[in-house]
Amino acid sequence: MPLLQYVYVLVLCLLSAAALAASPVGVVAVSHPAAAAAGARMLAEGGNAIDAAAAVQFALNVVEPQSSGIGGGGFMMVYLAKTGETVIVDSRERAPAHARADMFAPDGLPMSFALASTSGLAVGVPGTLRGVDLALRRWGSKKLSATLAPAIELAERGFRVNRFLAEDILHDGGRTQWQPETAAIFRPGGVPLAEGNWLVQPDLAKTLKRIAARGPDAFYRGALARAIVQVQQRARSELGAAGRGRMTLADLAHYQPAIRAPLIGHYRGWTLAGMPPPSSGGLTVMQILGMLEPYPLGDSAQGYGFGSPKTLHLMIEAMRLAFADRAVWMGDDDAVPVPRRGLLHRDYLATRAALIQPGQRMDTPQAGDPTPWDKTAIPAQPRRLPAESPHTTHFSIVDRWGNVVSYTSTIEATWGSGITVPGHGFLLNNELTDFNFLPATDSAAGSANDVAPGKRPRSSMAPTLLFKDGRFVAAYGSPGGATIINSVLNVTLNLIDHGMTMQQAIAAPRLSVTHAVGKVSCEGGQDFMRPGLGLAAQDALRQLGHLGLGDAGTQACLDSIGSVQAVEIDPASGVPLGAADPRREGTVIQVGP
Ligand code: GLY
Repeated sequence: MPLLQYVYVLVLCLLSAAALAASPVGVVAVSHPAAAAAGARMLAEGGNAIDAAAAVQFALNVVEPQSSGIGGGGFMMVYLAKTGETVIVDSRERAPAHARADMFAPDGLPMSFALASTSGLAVGVPGTLRGVDLALRRWGSKKLSATLAPAIELAERGFRVNRFLAEDILHDGGRTQWQPETAAIFRPGGVPLAEGNWLVQPDLAKTLKRIAARGPDAFYRGALARAIVQVQQRARSELGAAGRGRMTLADLAHYQPAIRAPLIGHYRGWTLAGMPPPSSGGLTVMQILGMLEPYPLGDSAQGYGFGSPKTLHLMIEAMRLAFADRAVWMGDDDAVPVPRRGLLHRDYLATRAALIQPGQRMDTPQAGDPTPWDKTAIPAQPRRLPAESPHTTHFSIVDRWGNVVSYTSTIEATWGSGITVPGHGFLLNNELTDFNFLPATDSAAGSANDVAPGKRPRSSMAPTLLFKDGRFVAAYGSPGGATIINSVLNVTLNLIDHGMTMQQAIAAPRLSVTHAVGKVSCEGGQDFMRPGLGLAAQDALRQLGHLGLGDAGTQACLDSIGSVQAVEIDPASGVPLGAADPRREGTVIQVGP
């Protein structure tokens, strides 16, 4: 992220704050300026946060097509100011009715992930459009067609390719190259689109117009549904028929989103609303917070404080313990009981936290057994973890009435399956690779995240709302596969323990480990991140065995983790603010009355 862009985002935030102090208004925080503008337009035209969220999501399909869209799914968390209620629209993709536990390992051996994840077999039944439509009908004030208008204009007239899209095309792992229809959009004439190129998407514009005219059934039934079913039967040639998708017209016609209640957790007197199963997001964030709460993480006089080795060590060990549990216990609990109560029980978390040793990396932790604190779950066995993708997108919106949306949305990997629906211009997800590739061999033991017909793959997405004394304070979330959980955790600790503003909390360098066994990834080397995690802290982590080998006094923290877009309401003034992430083209726009 160039420093100038970062400064631009900060200036926008400051301008927002100044303007909003005079007259409370709405704010959108999105990873792309054109999509932020689409949301702002809805607010300016009298729409509420739900209308704006719909417009942002559709616009992101056009300008950030590698991350989310109507070919994917997501979780829209909505706070309704009038009732104080928080609800979630779960539009997670589902496995087709013909999906089977061993479909990624037909001979008992897992398929090549690279091949399976770019074949129709990986495509889940998409949910985004049904989810957005449901949210609009329940809580929106605008018609679906009105919220599609900005996206249709962007697709028809075109937009300038930004650095992030250009880089994702260039470093696509082949995903914009296998399917001719995808290559034709993003590599016209065999040349990858570069930053500054103009991208027009007539097929996508036509699709969105058709949906605007006829509603979601134009997608889930009829010619477009037939085109989806047909194209997901494509497979990489190495896999043969085993790589073909199993989705049918009936799967599409029957898809329905779910409405869920949030998971509620508490940390040092603050309340969090988090994402329940089928995501592991809320549970894992809350487990880590529960293990960390006994420690005075903000107290630098006791050797803690932001970025100190003592704080970082505790974060890492709590992450490793929670991710060990996640691998075993979490999945779609409409299909498999998840012991939510046990996993978050104070006494269970105390037994887990007791495994942490100050100043020493623990041996690879196993999952714990929360069932004594929760009788709803069946025992599970550890499974091989699926690979996790760094992409997805998150945006947050607050409107003038105080309604809030915190929405994380995805097509799974960057570019999803890489399969564009011919003639319709949008990418299909590869969300089914979020399931375990290898099923449990002992079916009595079960496995929370094995493939099953109609089941939702376990997610890490963690749209979050923060409350204090019953009042809404902030909405945030992040992309980044399993690192989503840790990005949300880092920001939460920065706000609550380290007393940062939301913009500081987002910009500060992050740290993440997503496997019990794994090494840590961390930030600090990027030129926009000053200061990063200090070299002394990195050396301390290296000595503890948390970081890979390297020379003392050298930069080890070079990763980029997540992209958090947030809105908040200043509790003292009631002023809505936005904060955006310099790791993408994060943009905050305020809309006056
Ligand atoms: N596919 C990313 C997630 O659901 O966490």
